[in-house]
Amino acid sequence: MTLSEEIQAQRQRERSIPVLETGRLLLRAPRHGDVKAIAALANDRRVAENTARITHPYGVGDAEQFVANVNTREGEACFVILYDGTLIGACGVEARADDGVELGYWLGAPYWGRGFATEAVRAVIDHAFGDLRHDTLQAGARVTNPASRRVLEKCAFQWTGVQLTRIRAINSAAPLDRFRLDRGLWLSLKAWGRVRRVA
Ligand SMILES: CC(C)(COP(=O)(O)OP(=O)(O)OC[C@H]1O[C@@H](n2cnc3c(N)ncnc32)[C@H](O)[C@@H]1OP(=O)(O)O)[C@@H](O)C(=O)NCCC(=O)NCCS
Repeated sequence: MTLSEEIQAQRQRERSIPVLETGRLLLRAPRHGDVKAIAALANDRRVAENTARITHPYGVGDAEQFVANVNTREGEACFVILYDGTLIGACGVEARADDGVELGYWLGAPYWGRGFATEAVRAVIDHAFGDLRHDTLQAGARVTNPASRRVLEKCAFQWTGVQLTRIRAINSAAPLDRFRLDRGLWLSLKAWGRVRRVA
């Protein structure tokens, strides 16, 4: 593919991913101009070791590859998260061939502890159950990652068990608590006002 074809394909992908707005955040498709910011925040062992696919170290080349390939697969909707115009992390869903629809998210360490992950995840859940019409979402958190587990619990995910999952940054598998959220439960909780509206 030539460079101009690649740019055109990228713009087309961006158009298929909506912009989601929450009280404090804006979520949109990753763009080429984001690569430095993504690399700066993702190049952190604390981030990489708690996600399945982020390598460590993680450089601009890795971020370029991520942006070039993101949102190319059927059922994938990946967003970067912006706070006050600054990129602070990423969040999205991806349909896996044999394993349902998986939710994933990470934030740069300077932005932890302010409720941003929960706010972003709620917006992506709304999108996944609304526009994308998914019935069920799955997610995992390393058993050593109580903050991520708490994000999922605050979003009404239910614990389903523990599963060994490969973590690229440690070149090994590690136990993950697995969770699932059904569309019916999410919509009921929202209707009862048990989940704050985010958009
Ligand atoms: C996990 C992560 C996304 C959380 O982001 P965040 O914006 O800080 O999350 P929030 O502020 O929305 O919520 C975090 C919750 O965990 C709680 N928490 C944080 N550290 C904790 C700890 N050590 N033990 C127990 N709870 C903890 C917070 O108090 C908060 O809960 P509360 O609102 O009930 O007080 C962020 O730390 C991160 O990106 N980590 C690295 C990558 C990662 O783990 N991604 C998830 C892959 S499964």
